[in-house]
Amino acid sequence: MKTLIVCVSVSHGNTRRVAEAMGEVLGARVVEPEEVSPADLAEYDLVGFGSGIFSMAFHPRLREFARSLPEGQQGRAFVFATSGFPAVMGPMTRLLGRKGFEVMDTFSVRAFDTFAPLKLVGGIHKGRPDATDMAAARAFAAGLG
Ligand SMILES: Cc1cc2nc3c(=O)[nH]c(=O)nc-3n(C[C@H](O)[C@H](O)[C@H](O)COP(=O)(O)O)c2cc1C
Repeated sequence: MKTLIVCVSVSHGNTRRVAEAMGEVLGARVVEPEEVSPADLAEYDLVGFGSGIFSMAFHPRLREFARSLPEGQQGRAFVFATSGFPAVMGPMTRLLGRKGFEVMDTFSVRAFDTFAPLKLVGGIHKGRPDATDMAAARAFAAGLG
């Protein structure tokens, strides 16, 4: 199963770590949206889309990439996020569904969050994603196979 993971990870590298762990399990390359053209996705059976959550949404660069995809996508997809609070996965999942993907599953995990007000208290979830979170990410990826 040829798999690609498209990931935006700008704050602490939290999502990139999760993406790399999933990529190891799936034998997938992890790329940023700007490293892949929408047409390239046709080569893949499965495409993962992940980022941190910013102002209650996936990162604008990931959303823009997903929006730019032509309709009629044939493959399967999964969606993942790292965030300070439980992530709302529905809008990205529905967007990819509208593009034609069969969205198999979603994965989200709490992660170190230093968004402005939280910075005052040193952030929340320091040290996460931790070993347990990474094991959960790997198990999720294995379940997609
Ligand atoms: C400016 C900013 C805004 C954020 N907004 C949210 C938010 O609305 N909800 C949430 O759960 N986490 C929020 N976070 C926390 C990030 O989603 C979290 O730290 C995430 O793991 C970052 O992923 P990254 O390190 O891969 O970029 C925010 C963080 C920053 C810096």
